[in-house]
Amino acid sequence: MRFILFYLLGLLSVTSLTQGASNLICYYDSTSYLRKGLAKLQSSDLELAMQFCTHLVYGYAGLKPDTHELFSLNVDLDMFHYFEVTDLHKKFPQLKILLSVGGDHDVDEAHPNKYIELLEANRTQQQNFIDSSMILLKRNGFDGLDLAFQLPRNKPRKVHGAIGGYWKQFKKLFTGDFVVDPLAEHHKSQFTDLVMNLKNAFRSANLMLSLTVLPNVNSTWYFDVPKLHPHFEYINLAAFDFLTPLRNPEEADFTAPIFLQDEQNRLPHLNIDYQINYWLHNHCPAQKLNLGIASYGRAWKLTKDSGLSGLPVVHETYGPAPGGLLINSVEGLLSWPEICSKLAQNSSAQYRGEMAPLRKVTDLTQKYGNYALRPADDNGDHGVWLSFDDPDFAGIKATYAKGKGLGGIAVFDLSCDDFRGLCTGQKFPIVRSIKYFMA
Ligand SMILES: *[C@@H]1O[C@H](CO)[C@@H](O)[C@H](O)[C@H]1NC(C)=O
Ligand SMILES: *[C@@H]1O[C@H](CO)[C@@H](O)[C@H](O)[C@H]1NC(C)=O
Ligand SMILES: *[C@@H]1O[C@H](CO)[C@@H](O)[C@H](O)[C@H]1NC(C)=O
Repeated sequence: MRFILFYLLGLLSVTSLTQGASNLICYYDSTSYLRKGLAKLQSSDLELAMQFCTHLVYGYAGLKPDTHELFSLNVDLDMFHYFEVTDLHKKFPQLKILLSVGGDHDVDEAHPNKYIELLEANRTQQQNFIDSSMILLKRNGFDGLDLAFQLPRNKPRKVHGAIGGYWKQFKKLFTGDFVVDPLAEHHKSQFTDLVMNLKNAFRSANLMLSLTVLPNVNSTWYFDVPKLHPHFEYINLAAFDFLTPLRNPEEADFTAPIFLQDEQNRLPHLNIDYQINYWLHNHCPAQKLNLGIASYGRAWKLTKDSGLSGLPVVHETYGPAPGGLLINSVEGLLSWPEICSKLAQNSSAQYRGEMAPLRKVTDLTQKYGNYALRPADDNGDHGVWLSFDDPDFAGIKATYAKGKGLGGIAVFDLSCDDFRGLCTGQKFPIVRSIKYFMA
């Protein structure tokens, strides 16, 4: 009898292990609808991606300071585009469509702490957030809300390169006092309370609630994992941008390694495995977690002192390299099709100078990520070091997520994947690769 029970349990656990990750959460940055030329993502492109996605997340709504209401950051666009997007329900009845708030797109220089202020607000004030959310979601046909709150970030490590004078002026911006939150313990319990109240209201309105943990928002500070996870449908860990050329102008490294490469003084928490394990060890069910993958890369400017090898950690970098043409608002950020166009097709190509291709270095260990580089020329110009996940490496991450028994993958975002098929002719190659390796 005992033997049979044991046998049955064994079967059950085998079944749960082989059941692949099933969620593919697709973030959609709606401002890509307003981009020019090849970067403009049309509604028909969006529709094409929906054969792969289980959830579509419309980014992003904002938080009004003082009144704490959820509101549209671009009324001219959202007044018709919300409906255009939620109309995808008709063609894809299984698809869940959520609206996300924050996501680093809700930039309000006059109120940099407004998300913290929402946490600190009293119950009456927080009810404004809850009520306004329910109205906006219901009125526009959304299935739920994704909380991508812009909470204070982990402090990037200071490095002092020989040529960092320019960046030192900006130190305050990146390592300033606001980054460290002396009231984090309070904010953590306030966040839990807000989420509980929000969930109670949403439950009766049949609305979903999900959490997105933005890059470098420290889960230890803000998220009481055991108390929080029951209130969320799922939790997306945006486990990338651990280093960026804006936060870490003077050293370049893998932006989203799966594992810690325990050398060169790397910080132990700046990798996917650490972040996933943190949530798992704090009793979040694996099925509730989705691993976030970026479909863009980050480029640093190399100097003559950065050396020729490109082997990370690369020192003496000088902030971001020029960004892509598609998303020219963010320095050092390149979408996958832009990265693809810069990689050499020809192994005997010349790797110096402005027009020269970048040499890709594939991570054969499949643990840390791929990168590409072009060393600076003799005048110290045109050097680039680029960390990115191509469709292959995104697939490796999907395999990792499956091995961990996670619920799925979250892609940030559709507009940085190659939705036109410029690279190989195949549209949405990153999303496709993830879908393939998740199954
Ligand atoms: C909540 O805070 C607002 C603004 O500070 C204040 O006007 C109001 O009286 C407070 N309500 C309660 C119930 O404490
Ligand atoms: C939060 O930050 C501290 C200090 O930098 C670090 O030790 C800890 O591992 C971080 N937690 C997570 C989940 O990254
Ligand atoms: C590869 O690059 C070399 C050197 O720049 C050039 O001579 C050759 O024609 C290129 N081959 C192809 C197939 O583009």
